[in-house]
Amino acid sequence: MNTLNRRCSSSLGKKYVMAVTGLALFGFVVAHMVGNLQIFLGREILNGYGAFLKSKPLLLWGARLGLICLVSLHVWAAIRLTQDNRAARPVAYAVQASISASYASRTMLMSGLIVASFIVFHLMHFTLGGVDPEFLEFRDGAGRHDVYRMVVAGFSTPIVSIFYFVGMALLCLHLSHGVSALFQSLGLRTGHWVRAIDLFAKAAALTIFVGNCSIPLAVLIGLLK
Ligand code: HEM
Repeated sequence: MNTLNRRCSSSLGKKYVMAVTGLALFGFVVAHMVGNLQIFLGREILNGYGAFLKSKPLLLWGARLGLICLVSLHVWAAIRLTQDNRAARPVAYAVQASISASYASRTMLMSGLIVASFIVFHLMHFTLGGVDPEFLEFRDGAGRHDVYRMVVAGFSTPIVSIFYFVGMALLCLHLSHGVSALFQSLGLRTGHWVRAIDLFAKAAALTIFVGNCSIPLAVLIGLLK
C-alpha cells in the first residue's frame, strides 16, 4: 500500500493518474454524448434508454461511484502537479516560457475547474432536480421517467442553453490539449504519431462540442419539442 502511495505521489505517478483517469473520463463523455444523441431518434428511444440504465441499479451505482473516484483523482493530481511545478520554479521567467505553448495547455487547470463546476450544475439540473424538482416527476405514456420532456424543458430557457454552450466550449478547449497530453504521459505520443494524435485530440474535442451543443440548439430553434 505504501509503495503504491509513494508511486502515485511521485510526479511521474501523478502524471499517470491524470492520464488514466483522463482517458476513462473521456470515454464517459463520448459514451454519454452518444446516449444523449438518441434524443434525435424520438421520445420512445430516449426514454427506453433511460429506463434501461435505471433498471440496472448495481451497474448504475457502480458507474456513479467510479465517476466520483475518477473526477476526484483527476482533480487531485492536477492540483498537486501544478503545485509541484510552481515549487520547482519559484521565480517566474522574465519572458513567459509558455509563449510556444497553446492557449489550451496554459489554461488546463482553470478550464478543468470550470468544467467541474459545470458538472455540478448539470447534476442539479437533470439528475437531482435541484433546478426544477418537477423535472424528475415527468412521466411518459408507459409510466417511465420522461427524459425527453425533461431535456426539452431544461433547454427551453435560453440562459441555461447559453450556459451549456459555454461549458461545452471549455470542455472542448480542455480536451483539445488533454487528449494529446494523456497520450504523451503514457509514452505513446512519439515519432510520426505526434501529428496524428494531436489531430485526433482536436477532432474529438470538436465532435464532442458539436454533438453536445446540437441538443440545446435543436431545442432553441424548435426542432425538438
Ligand atoms: C448537452 C449535453 C448534455 C446533455 C443533453 C446531457 C444530458 C443528461 C441527462 C438527461 C442526464 C440524466 C440522466 C437521467 O437521470 O435519466 C445526465 C446525467 C449526467 N451527465 Fe449529462 N448531458 C450532457 C453533457 C454532459 C457532459 C459534457 C458531462 C460531463 C463532462 C455530463 C455528465 C453527466 C453526469 C456525470 C451525469 C450523472 C449520471 C448519473 O449518475 O445519473 N453530461 N446528462
